[in-house]
Amino acid sequence: MKNNWWKDFYDENYLDYATHKSDEEIKKSVDFMVDVMNLEKWNILYDQCCGVGDISIALATRGIKCVGLDQSKNYIEIAKKRAENNNLDCDFISWDAFTYKTEQTCDAAVNWYTSFGYSVDDNQNIKMIKNIYDSLKIGWKFLLDYYNSEYILENFKETIEYKVAIWNNLVNMRKKSKLENGIFKSWWYYEDGKEYYGESRFYSPNDLQKMMEKIWFEVEAVYGSIEKEEISNNYYRCILLGVKK
Ligand SMILES: C[S@@+](CC[C@H](N)C(=O)[O-])C[C@H]1O[C@@H](n2cnc3c(N)ncnc32)[C@H](O)[C@@H]1O
Repeated sequence: MKNNWWKDFYDENYLDYATHKSDEEIKKSVDFMVDVMNLEKWNILYDQCCGVGDISIALATRGIKCVGLDQSKNYIEIAKKRAENNNLDCDFISWDAFTYKTEQTCDAAVNWYTSFGYSVDDNQNIKMIKNIYDSLKIGWKFLLDYYNSEYILENFKETIEYKVAIWNNLVNMRKKSKLENGIFKSWWYYEDGKEYYGESRFYSPNDLQKMMEKIWFEVEAVYGSIEKEEISNNYYRCILLGVKK
């Protein structure tokens, strides 16, 4: 295991790959959030591990004020510029989500697109949920978007190959994965020789629900998709909706 692997992983290569999420996908994600968290104009949302701010920026265009946090200074600079260029009201902060709580309590929070479970230590991972809890007003909601480990078990492939767009060139990528001691480990090998390693705890939907409940969230729903389908082994996502009690 490599300590704090995410500090190296989330660089410009990942960024180029990640920013190929289509506008349609981002719009659908934000429609889903507005719907299940009953978001309205002027609400404040905490976007934990916001990357370059895709979700915060899309929500801000609908009048929702976002506080986005990411450990990557580079990503936060990009998010700030995007907000400035579009005259949007967002705060972007570069800090560690294991320790950060918002100054002002928020009306909603998200941890989106598998930005959770990165530590091998469960107590450390649960701190991210606790920091969300402390950043929320009572009665308001949190969405945790993780992968569905049961889907992965049923569809596991040790090696997959696909193409990603890096600086507008299509590059071959080989991904190797291994499940070891409850940790899902992956190695990405790019055609240009770059190699990346990442890992996350292999939490089941039930494990995630228990972690949220341990921090006093009431889990209202567990979705398999942003189309609001109930989770089952057919869905690769596990999206939990919790309410702060
Ligand atoms: C898979 S990306 C998702 C980004 C964003 N939520 C999205 O939907 O596009 C994970 C993000 O989590 C950030 N991250 C990982 N560990 C973090 C930590 N301990 N504190 C803050 N950010 C972290 C990474 O820098 C990266 O931008």
